[in-house]
Amino acid sequence: MLIDTYGRVATDLRVSLTDRCNLRCTYCMPEEGLQWLAKPDLLTDDEIVRLVRIAVTRLGITEVRFTGGEPLLRPGLVGIVERCAQLEPHPKMSLTTNGIGLKRTASALKAAGLDRVNVSLDTLRPDVFKTLTRRDRHKDVLEGLEAARDAGLTPVKVNTVLMPGLNDDEAPDLLAWAVENAYELRFIEQMPLDAQHGWKRDGMITAGDILQSLRTRFELTEEASGERGSAPAERWLVDGGPHRVGVIASVTRPFCSACDRTRLTADGQVRTCLFATEETDLRGALRAAPEGSTGGSDEAIARIWKQAMWGKKAGSGLDDPSFLQPDRPMSAIGG
Ligand SMILES: C[S@@+](CC[C@H](N)C(=O)[O-])C[C@H]1O[C@@H](n2cnc3c(N)ncnc32)[C@H](O)[C@@H]1O
Repeated sequence: MLIDTYGRVATDLRVSLTDRCNLRCTYCMPEEGLQWLAKPDLLTDDEIVRLVRIAVTRLGITEVRFTGGEPLLRPGLVGIVERCAQLEPHPKMSLTTNGIGLKRTASALKAAGLDRVNVSLDTLRPDVFKTLTRRDRHKDVLEGLEAARDAGLTPVKVNTVLMPGLNDDEAPDLLAWAVENAYELRFIEQMPLDAQHGWKRDGMITAGDILQSLRTRFELTEEASGERGSAPAERWLVDGGPHRVGVIASVTRPFCSACDRTRLTADGQVRTCLFATEETDLRGALRAAPEGSTGGSDEAIARIWKQAMWGKKAGSGLDDPSFLQPDRPMSAIGG
Protein backbone atom coordinates (compact mmCIF):
# COMPACT_ATOMS: atom_id res chain seq x y z
CA MET A 1 0.00 0.00 0.00
CA LEU A 2 1.19 3.54 -0.71
CA ILE A 3 0.35 5.20 2.59
CA ASP A 4 1.73 8.49 3.94
CA THR A 5 2.28 9.84 7.42
CA TYR A 6 -1.13 11.59 7.30
CA GLY A 7 -2.90 8.27 6.68
CA ARG A 8 -3.76 8.98 3.04
CA VAL A 9 -3.56 6.01 0.71
CA ALA A 10 -2.63 6.50 -2.96
CA THR A 11 -4.66 4.30 -5.30
CA ASP A 12 -4.59 6.52 -8.41
CA LEU A 13 -1.43 6.50 -10.55
CA ARG A 14 -0.74 9.24 -13.13
CA VAL A 15 1.86 8.11 -15.66
CA SER A 16 3.46 10.64 -17.99
CA LEU A 17 4.37 8.97 -21.28
CA THR A 18 6.28 11.91 -22.77
CA ASP A 19 7.14 15.52 -21.97
CA ARG A 20 6.58 16.53 -25.63
CA CYS A 21 3.42 18.19 -26.85
CA ASN A 22 2.05 19.39 -30.18
CA LEU A 23 0.41 22.44 -28.58
CA ARG A 24 2.03 25.29 -26.65
CA CYS A 25 -0.71 26.35 -24.22
CA THR A 26 0.37 29.66 -22.70
CA TYR A 27 -0.37 28.55 -19.10
CA CYS A 28 1.71 25.39 -19.53
CA MET A 29 4.61 25.75 -21.99
CA PRO A 30 6.74 28.53 -23.45
CA GLU A 31 6.45 29.33 -27.16
CA GLU A 32 9.88 27.78 -27.75
CA GLY A 33 13.10 26.91 -25.95
CA LEU A 34 11.88 24.20 -23.58
CA GLN A 35 14.51 21.47 -23.33
CA TRP A 36 13.03 17.98 -23.99
CA LEU A 37 14.05 15.02 -21.88
CA ALA A 38 16.88 13.07 -23.51
CA LYS A 39 15.68 9.90 -25.23
CA PRO A 40 17.87 7.50 -23.18
CA ASP A 41 16.39 8.99 -20.00
CA LEU A 42 12.81 8.17 -21.01
CA LEU A 43 11.32 4.96 -19.71
CA THR A 44 10.86 2.36 -22.42
CA ASP A 45 7.46 0.79 -23.05
CA ASP A 46 8.63 -2.34 -21.18
CA GLU A 47 9.79 -0.27 -18.21
CA ILE A 48 6.46 1.58 -18.04
CA VAL A 49 4.47 -1.65 -18.13
CA ARG A 50 6.72 -3.14 -15.46
CA LEU A 51 6.23 -0.14 -13.13
CA VAL A 52 2.45 -0.19 -13.68
CA ARG A 53 2.49 -3.92 -12.91
CA ILE A 54 4.42 -3.33 -9.68
CA ALA A 55 2.00 -0.53 -8.75
CA VAL A 56 -1.10 -2.63 -9.44
CA THR A 57 0.02 -5.99 -8.09
CA ARG A 58 2.09 -4.87 -5.09
CA LEU A 59 1.08 -1.33 -4.14
CA GLY A 60 -2.72 -1.22 -4.31
CA ILE A 61 -3.09 1.03 -7.36
CA THR A 62 -6.59 0.61 -8.84
CA GLU A 63 -6.68 3.46 -11.38
CA VAL A 64 -4.09 4.36 -14.00
CA ARG A 65 -4.23 7.60 -16.00
CA PHE A 66 -1.83 8.08 -18.92
CA THR A 67 -0.85 11.68 -19.52
CA GLY A 68 2.04 13.89 -20.62
CA GLY A 69 3.07 16.11 -22.46
CA GLU A 70 0.76 14.68 -25.06
CA PRO A 71 0.38 10.91 -24.58
CA LEU A 72 -0.95 10.39 -28.13
CA LEU A 73 2.55 11.34 -29.34
CA ARG A 74 3.96 8.18 -27.76
CA PRO A 75 4.24 5.61 -30.56
CA GLY A 76 3.77 2.63 -28.23
CA LEU A 77 0.64 3.97 -26.49
CA VAL A 78 -1.87 1.36 -27.73
CA GLY A 79 0.53 -1.48 -26.87
CA ILE A 80 1.15 -0.08 -23.38
CA VAL A 81 -2.61 0.15 -22.76
CA GLU A 82 -3.14 -3.37 -24.08
CA ARG A 83 -0.48 -4.86 -21.81
CA CYS A 84 -1.65 -2.95 -18.74
CA ALA A 85 -5.24 -4.09 -19.43
CA GLN A 86 -4.10 -7.68 -18.97
CA LEU A 87 -2.86 -7.08 -15.43
CA GLU A 88 -4.60 -8.78 -12.51
CA PRO A 89 -6.17 -7.14 -10.61
CA HIS A 90 -7.42 -5.16 -13.57
CA PRO A 91 -6.91 -1.37 -13.13
CA LYS A 92 -9.34 1.22 -14.49
CA MET A 93 -7.52 3.05 -17.28
CA SER A 94 -7.98 6.50 -18.76
CA LEU A 95 -6.08 9.04 -20.83
CA THR A 96 -5.69 12.81 -20.53
CA THR A 97 -5.12 14.21 -24.01
CA ASN A 98 -5.52 17.29 -26.16
CA GLY A 99 -7.46 15.08 -28.59
CA ILE A 100 -5.28 15.73 -31.64
CA GLY A 101 -5.00 12.38 -33.43
CA LEU A 102 -7.69 10.75 -31.31
CA LYS A 103 -9.85 10.51 -34.41
CA ARG A 104 -7.39 7.89 -35.72
CA THR A 105 -6.70 6.00 -32.48
CA ALA A 106 -9.91 6.11 -30.40
CA SER A 107 -11.23 2.73 -31.59
CA ALA A 108 -7.84 1.02 -31.18
CA LEU A 109 -7.48 2.44 -27.66
CA LYS A 110 -10.96 1.21 -26.73
CA ALA A 111 -10.18 -2.24 -28.15
CA ALA A 112 -6.89 -2.28 -26.22
CA GLY A 113 -8.79 -1.82 -22.95
CA LEU A 114 -8.85 1.93 -22.28
CA ASP A 115 -11.98 2.86 -20.32
CA ARG A 116 -12.33 6.58 -21.02
CA VAL A 117 -10.67 9.87 -21.88
CA ASN A 118 -10.35 13.43 -20.60
CA VAL A 119 -9.88 15.84 -23.49
CA SER A 120 -8.58 19.35 -22.86
CA LEU A 121 -10.38 22.16 -24.69
CA ASP A 122 -10.53 25.74 -23.47
CA THR A 123 -12.60 27.48 -26.11
CA LEU A 124 -15.23 27.06 -28.82
CA ARG A 125 -13.61 29.80 -30.93
CA PRO A 126 -10.89 28.70 -33.36
CA ASP A 127 -9.13 32.10 -33.20
CA VAL A 128 -9.00 32.04 -29.40
CA PHE A 129 -7.76 28.43 -29.55
CA LYS A 130 -4.90 29.57 -31.77
CA THR A 131 -3.98 32.35 -29.35
CA LEU A 132 -4.18 30.10 -26.29
CA THR A 133 -2.37 27.07 -27.72
CA ARG A 134 -0.23 28.85 -30.35
CA ARG A 135 -1.38 26.22 -32.88
CA ASP A 136 -4.26 26.13 -35.40
CA ARG A 137 -5.72 22.72 -34.41
CA HIS A 138 -9.19 23.47 -33.04
CA LYS A 139 -10.96 21.31 -35.62
CA ASP A 140 -8.71 18.29 -34.83
CA VAL A 141 -9.67 18.50 -31.15
CA LEU A 142 -13.40 18.62 -31.92
CA GLU A 143 -13.02 15.63 -34.24
CA GLY A 144 -11.03 13.74 -31.61
CA LEU A 145 -13.75 14.37 -29.04
CA GLU A 146 -16.45 13.01 -31.32
CA ALA A 147 -14.35 9.96 -32.15
CA ALA A 148 -13.82 9.24 -28.44
CA ARG A 149 -17.56 9.45 -27.73
CA ASP A 150 -18.39 7.28 -30.75
CA ALA A 151 -15.78 4.68 -29.73
CA GLY A 152 -17.39 4.41 -26.28
CA LEU A 153 -14.52 5.98 -24.31
CA THR A 154 -17.16 7.40 -22.01
CA PRO A 155 -17.93 9.42 -20.04
CA VAL A 156 -15.83 11.79 -22.15
CA LYS A 157 -14.74 14.57 -19.84
CA VAL A 158 -13.58 17.95 -21.14
CA ASN A 159 -10.97 19.88 -19.11
CA THR A 160 -11.10 23.66 -19.46
CA VAL A 161 -8.82 26.36 -18.07
CA LEU A 162 -10.18 29.91 -18.23
CA MET A 163 -7.72 32.72 -18.77
CA PRO A 164 -8.54 36.37 -18.05
CA GLY A 165 -9.32 38.44 -21.12
CA LEU A 166 -9.08 35.44 -23.46
CA ASN A 167 -11.82 32.87 -22.84
CA ASP A 168 -13.26 33.83 -19.44
CA ASP A 169 -16.50 34.94 -21.10
CA GLU A 170 -17.10 31.47 -22.56
CA ALA A 171 -18.09 29.40 -19.52
CA PRO A 172 -21.88 29.33 -20.25
CA ASP A 173 -21.32 28.68 -23.99
CA LEU A 174 -18.94 25.83 -23.20
CA LEU A 175 -21.44 24.28 -20.80
CA ALA A 176 -24.32 24.55 -23.31
CA TRP A 177 -22.09 22.88 -25.93
CA ALA A 178 -21.02 20.12 -23.50
CA VAL A 179 -24.64 19.36 -22.53
CA GLU A 180 -25.64 19.21 -26.20
CA ASN A 181 -22.77 16.83 -27.05
CA ALA A 182 -22.97 14.62 -23.93
CA TYR A 183 -19.50 15.63 -22.67
CA GLU A 184 -18.89 16.23 -18.97
CA LEU A 185 -17.25 19.64 -18.59
CA ARG A 186 -14.80 20.37 -15.78
CA PHE A 187 -13.23 23.76 -15.25
CA ILE A 188 -9.73 23.71 -13.72
CA GLU A 189 -8.36 26.75 -11.91
CA GLN A 190 -5.08 27.88 -13.42
CA MET A 191 -2.19 26.70 -11.26
CA PRO A 192 1.39 28.00 -10.97
CA LEU A 193 2.87 25.34 -13.24
CA ASP A 194 3.73 27.34 -16.35
CA ALA A 195 7.25 27.13 -17.74
CA GLN A 196 7.58 30.93 -17.71
CA HIS A 197 6.69 31.21 -13.99
CA GLY A 198 4.23 33.97 -14.89
CA TRP A 199 1.25 32.83 -12.76
CA LYS A 200 -0.32 35.46 -10.48
CA ARG A 201 -2.98 34.63 -7.94
CA ASP A 202 -4.73 37.97 -8.33
CA GLY A 203 -5.00 37.51 -12.08
CA MET A 204 -6.53 34.05 -12.12
CA ILE A 205 -10.17 33.13 -12.73
CA THR A 206 -11.44 31.46 -9.55
CA ALA A 207 -14.03 28.74 -9.02
CA GLY A 208 -16.27 31.48 -7.58
CA ASP A 209 -15.98 33.53 -10.80
CA ILE A 210 -16.76 30.44 -12.91
CA LEU A 211 -19.87 29.51 -10.93
CA GLN A 212 -21.13 33.08 -11.01
CA SER A 213 -20.75 33.18 -14.77
CA LEU A 214 -22.48 29.78 -15.26
CA ARG A 215 -25.39 30.85 -13.06
CA THR A 216 -26.23 33.67 -15.46
CA ARG A 217 -27.64 30.96 -17.76
CA PHE A 218 -28.06 27.72 -15.76
CA GLU A 219 -29.50 26.60 -12.48
CA LEU A 220 -26.77 24.75 -10.61
CA THR A 221 -27.43 22.42 -7.67
CA GLU A 222 -24.40 21.27 -5.71
CA GLU A 223 -23.96 17.51 -5.35
CA ALA A 224 -23.87 16.25 -1.77
CA SER A 225 -20.31 16.71 -0.45
CA GLY A 226 -20.00 12.99 0.33
CA GLU A 227 -20.13 12.26 -3.39
CA ARG A 228 -16.86 14.13 -4.02
CA GLY A 229 -14.73 11.59 -2.12
CA SER A 230 -11.12 11.98 -3.24
CA ALA A 231 -12.23 13.30 -6.64
CA PRO A 232 -10.80 16.78 -7.18
CA ALA A 233 -13.89 18.12 -8.96
CA GLU A 234 -16.80 19.50 -7.02
CA ARG A 235 -19.85 18.86 -9.16
CA TRP A 236 -23.15 20.59 -9.81
CA LEU A 237 -26.30 19.28 -11.48
CA VAL A 238 -27.18 21.47 -14.46
CA ASP A 239 -30.83 22.61 -14.58
CA GLY A 240 -31.88 19.73 -12.30
CA GLY A 241 -29.73 17.08 -14.04
CA PRO A 242 -28.86 14.55 -15.19
CA HIS A 243 -26.03 16.53 -16.79
CA ARG A 244 -23.28 17.69 -14.42
CA VAL A 245 -20.52 20.28 -14.47
CA GLY A 246 -17.37 20.09 -12.35
CA VAL A 247 -15.01 22.70 -10.99
CA ILE A 248 -11.52 21.75 -9.83
CA ALA A 249 -10.58 24.53 -7.43
CA SER A 250 -6.98 23.43 -6.94
CA VAL A 251 -5.94 26.91 -5.80
CA THR A 252 -8.92 28.36 -3.90
CA ARG A 253 -10.33 25.09 -2.44
CA PRO A 254 -7.52 22.53 -2.52
CA PHE A 255 -8.37 18.88 -1.88
CA CYS A 256 -4.99 17.79 -0.49
CA SER A 257 -6.41 16.13 2.64
CA ALA A 258 -8.27 13.61 0.44
CA CYS A 259 -5.55 13.23 -2.21
CA ASP A 260 -5.15 9.64 -3.42
CA ARG A 261 -2.57 10.21 -6.18
CA THR A 262 0.95 9.18 -6.97
CA ARG A 263 2.76 10.34 -10.11
CA LEU A 264 5.40 8.93 -12.37
CA THR A 265 7.27 11.19 -14.80
CA ALA A 266 8.29 10.06 -18.29
CA ASP A 267 11.87 9.69 -17.04
CA GLY A 268 10.89 7.42 -14.16
CA GLN A 269 10.71 9.76 -11.15
CA VAL A 270 8.03 9.38 -8.49
CA ARG A 271 6.32 12.61 -7.50
CA THR A 272 4.05 12.74 -4.48
CA CYS A 273 2.26 15.90 -5.69
CA LEU A 274 2.10 18.22 -8.71
CA PHE A 275 3.79 20.83 -6.53
CA ALA A 276 6.45 18.57 -4.99
CA THR A 277 9.94 20.01 -5.22
CA GLU A 278 11.56 16.62 -4.68
CA GLU A 279 11.38 13.45 -6.76
CA THR A 280 12.45 9.86 -6.15
CA ASP A 281 14.27 7.99 -8.87
CA LEU A 282 12.84 4.60 -9.89
CA ARG A 283 14.57 4.43 -13.26
CA GLY A 284 17.97 3.76 -11.69
CA ALA A 285 16.57 0.88 -9.65
CA LEU A 286 14.73 -0.49 -12.70
CA ARG A 287 17.83 -0.48 -14.84
CA ALA A 288 20.08 -1.82 -12.11
CA ALA A 289 17.80 -4.83 -11.75
CA PRO A 290 16.20 -5.70 -15.07
CA GLU A 291 13.03 -7.75 -15.12
CA GLY A 292 13.72 -11.42 -14.49
CA SER A 293 16.97 -10.75 -12.61
CA THR A 294 17.35 -12.44 -9.24
CA GLY A 295 17.33 -10.66 -5.89
CA GLY A 296 13.71 -9.55 -5.56
CA SER A 297 14.10 -6.49 -7.74
CA ASP A 298 10.35 -5.79 -7.98
CA GLU A 299 10.17 -5.83 -4.18
CA ALA A 300 13.07 -3.38 -4.01
CA ILE A 301 11.37 -1.01 -6.46
CA ALA A 302 8.07 -1.26 -4.56
CA ARG A 303 9.94 -0.42 -1.35
CA ILE A 304 11.50 2.72 -2.87
CA TRP A 305 8.06 3.83 -4.13
CA LYS A 306 6.51 3.25 -0.69
CA GLN A 307 9.27 5.26 1.01
CA ALA A 308 8.75 8.12 -1.44
CA MET A 309 5.01 8.26 -0.77
CA TRP A 310 5.47 7.99 3.00
CA GLY A 311 7.11 11.42 2.84
CA LYS A 312 4.20 13.09 0.99
CA LYS A 313 3.59 16.56 2.43
CA ALA A 314 0.25 17.55 3.98
CA GLY A 315 -0.57 20.05 1.26
CA SER A 316 0.55 21.69 -1.95
CA GLY A 317 2.04 24.61 0.00
CA LEU A 318 0.39 27.11 -2.35
CA ASP A 319 -0.75 29.27 0.54
CA ASP A 320 2.61 29.21 2.26
CA PRO A 321 4.56 32.47 1.85
CA SER A 322 7.66 30.36 1.17
CA PHE A 323 5.92 28.50 -1.72
CA LEU A 324 8.27 27.76 -4.59
CA GLN A 325 6.98 26.73 -7.99
CA PRO A 326 8.40 23.32 -9.02
CA ASP A 327 11.29 23.42 -11.49
CA ARG A 328 9.49 21.28 -14.03
CA PRO A 329 6.48 22.77 -15.84
CA MET A 330 3.18 20.87 -15.99
CA SER A 331 4.09 19.40 -19.41
CA ALA A 332 7.14 17.66 -17.94
CA ILE A 333 5.47 16.56 -14.70
CA GLY A 334 2.41 15.03 -16.33
CA GLY A 335 -0.88 16.80 -15.73
C1 LIG B 1 -0.51 19.09 -18.95
S1 LIG B 1 -1.87 18.49 -19.91
C2 LIG B 1 -1.23 16.92 -20.39
C3 LIG B 1 -2.16 16.05 -21.16
C4 LIG B 1 -2.62 16.52 -22.53
N1 LIG B 1 -1.60 17.08 -23.35
C5 LIG B 1 -3.81 17.44 -22.42
O1 LIG B 1 -3.81 18.48 -23.07
O2 LIG B 1 -4.74 17.10 -21.70
C6 LIG B 1 -3.09 18.01 -18.72
C7 LIG B 1 -4.03 19.07 -18.25
O3 LIG B 1 -3.31 20.02 -17.51
C8 LIG B 1 -3.89 21.28 -17.73
N2 LIG B 1 -2.92 22.32 -17.37
C9 LIG B 1 -1.71 22.56 -17.89
N3 LIG B 1 -1.11 23.60 -17.27
C10 LIG B 1 -1.99 24.00 -16.32
C11 LIG B 1 -1.96 25.04 -15.34
N4 LIG B 1 -0.92 25.86 -15.23
N5 LIG B 1 -3.01 25.16 -14.53
C12 LIG B 1 -4.08 24.32 -14.64
N6 LIG B 1 -4.16 23.33 -15.53
C13 LIG B 1 -3.14 23.18 -16.37
C14 LIG B 1 -4.22 21.25 -19.20
O4 LIG B 1 -5.19 22.21 -19.54
C15 LIG B 1 -4.73 19.84 -19.36
O5 LIG B 1 -6.11 19.79 -19.13
